[in-house]
Amino acid sequence: MKRISWEEYTNLRVSDRIPYLSKPNTDNEPFHVLYSQQFTREMLDHLCALADKIRALHKTERGGDLLRSTLRNKNALNLFAQPSTRTFMSFLMAEQKLGMEVVDIRDVSTSSQAKGESLQNSIRTFSSYVDAIIMRHPDAGAAELAAYEMNMADRRIPVLNGGSGRDQHPTQALLDIYTLTKSLGEIDGKKIAMVGDLLRGRTVRSLSYLMKNYEDVELYYVAPERLRMADDVKDFLKRSHIRYTESENLEAVVSIVDAVYMTRIQWEWDRAAGAKSPDAGEYDPRFVFRKEYLDRMKKRSCLLHPLPKINEIDPELDYSDDPRVVYWRQERNGMWARAALLARIFDVDRTIMDSDDD
Ligand code: NCD
Repeated sequence: MKRISWEEYTNLRVSDRIPYLSKPNTDNEPFHVLYSQQFTREMLDHLCALADKIRALHKTERGGDLLRSTLRNKNALNLFAQPSTRTFMSFLMAEQKLGMEVVDIRDVSTSSQAKGESLQNSIRTFSSYVDAIIMRHPDAGAAELAAYEMNMADRRIPVLNGGSGRDQHPTQALLDIYTLTKSLGEIDGKKIAMVGDLLRGRTVRSLSYLMKNYEDVELYYVAPERLRMADDVKDFLKRSHIRYTESENLEAVVSIVDAVYMTRIQWEWDRAAGAKSPDAGEYDPRFVFRKEYLDRMKKRSCLLHPLPKINEIDPELDYSDDPRVVYWRQERNGMWARAALLARIFDVDRTIMDSDDD
């Protein structure tokens, strides 16, 4: 791969960075997974089918053994420098289901970065011991710097972004696509509402970018004025001819859309910015999914949430057996979708798809 300075690299548009993140000699297939824009429709369809197959294999003893044999010679580092429950757990379980050995660092103050070592040098060191790095970091560019470092050092170790600041969460978007596909049958032609903190929520950003892979999708952004979707995503939608509307009225859209994707207000950013008001995280009832909204939703529709949630969904719905309430299933889907992604990155997906041990 052509050498490029970090400055030159970061001056590139995301679409021009993609070749640097791809498997060599492929049509830009993701190797480092940093941006949801790296996924094509073909790849998304393949990963959904692969996730289904992994799930089915896992149900049988022979299937489980087969899965664990696929990556048993590989190990992974889960480097989570920001709180995480689901992403951490589901990556861990996905890695173990494919037989990987896993080490984790969840508190960077225990690594040499606390002594002043640069992130690049730390990553270089980690890469001496592992075959994949899964990384969550409060700085938007940290996983990208790690991937860049791997390229510069000529170490073919994939870096997977498990959440980068307010920017992106591509593997969450992947599991959201998997969940939407399973719940709705298909995503083409569907209307999807995204509700809550669209400004700081990286999940809704990554998911919005993925919509370019589907025909005739319409987005309904529902957010308080100060937390509307940022212009970079909206410009992307315009360029990609994806229709979207913005409003502050969840109640008005629940009966129109096929999916409602709720998110929490990310009050930690207000606190970090020095906000004093103890009310900063309080909910405006206009952005709360009330129990009765479910009655107004289409027969075939779904209610999603990347979780964690606070009080933006009526807690009674947590125990609903209505098949449209899918957020707990969505969470579990993360494990299968991430296992599928790892299998593809390490080229063991064919072995899995061709197996009849399910
Ligand atoms: C989200 C995240 O960390 O971006 N959670 C997740 O990964 N499932 C959403 C959030 O923190 O609100």
